[in-house]
Amino acid sequence: MTARLNVNIDHVATIREARKTIEPSIITAAVICEQAGANGITVHLRGDRRHIQDRDIELLRDVVTTYLNVEMAATDEMIGIALQTKPDAVSLVPESPNEITTEGGLDVIANFENVKKAVDALKAAGIFVSIFIDPVIEQISAAAGVGAQQVELCTAEYAELTLSSRATHGEGAQKAASEVSRIAQAAAHAKSLEVLVAAGHGLTYRNVGALASLPYIIEFNIGHNIISRAVFVGLNQAVREMIDAIA
Ligand code: PXP
Repeated sequence: MTARLNVNIDHVATIREARKTIEPSIITAAVICEQAGANGITVHLRGDRRHIQDRDIELLRDVVTTYLNVEMAATDEMIGIALQTKPDAVSLVPESPNEITTEGGLDVIANFENVKKAVDALKAAGIFVSIFIDPVIEQISAAAGVGAQQVELCTAEYAELTLSSRATHGEGAQKAASEVSRIAQAAAHAKSLEVLVAAGHGLTYRNVGALASLPYIIEFNIGHNIISRAVFVGLNQAVREMIDAIA
């Protein structure tokens, strides 16, 4: 079965916020992604509101007809927004104010009670809950323990290893292959606990194929590489090319 693609459109909002203006429209971006065949739209509402704003979530909730996945930290403020706007899914992510982007997965073991409280509240409101975690067996067990319906395996390390030709030669290729196998084992462990498996972070047209051919990964969340390519070829084509890379 081919995995679904949710396009993360945060960086359309990054361009808009660079001028604090009204363009490019996040709504137009979402519609183009859907028309190009994306299975869903992902956005990250950060505490510092550096790209996506609260109003974007409200508008996207009205416009997105496929699947709206909102990434957020497990804070009272964010969970309150989710309960009010009711996206189809919430992905709980760690967040630190000075990071350039999300740095690794949520430590569910260290934050067990807080994460469980968030998961309970979201599930009670009928919102599907995914947790972004590193491909580590103990973290997956903890995610199952707090009641997550899905884990999104953090592929940042794999992405780093596949950034350049390092990945296709000698030691670099071996390291990338061993990271793929760590992700595969993590996915199998989640499956054995009846937890669904997504993956994302740093994925590209070039590196997604090795993960798309693994069993159990049913969803990819990909943003930066698609929006970057869209600058040159347009968003519709950029999304189509990623769908082809996953198929
Ligand atoms: N998944 C999660 C949980 C993320 O935080 C991000 C980045 O916002 C992505 C996927 C997408 O990562 P990228 O923009 O590198 O494709």
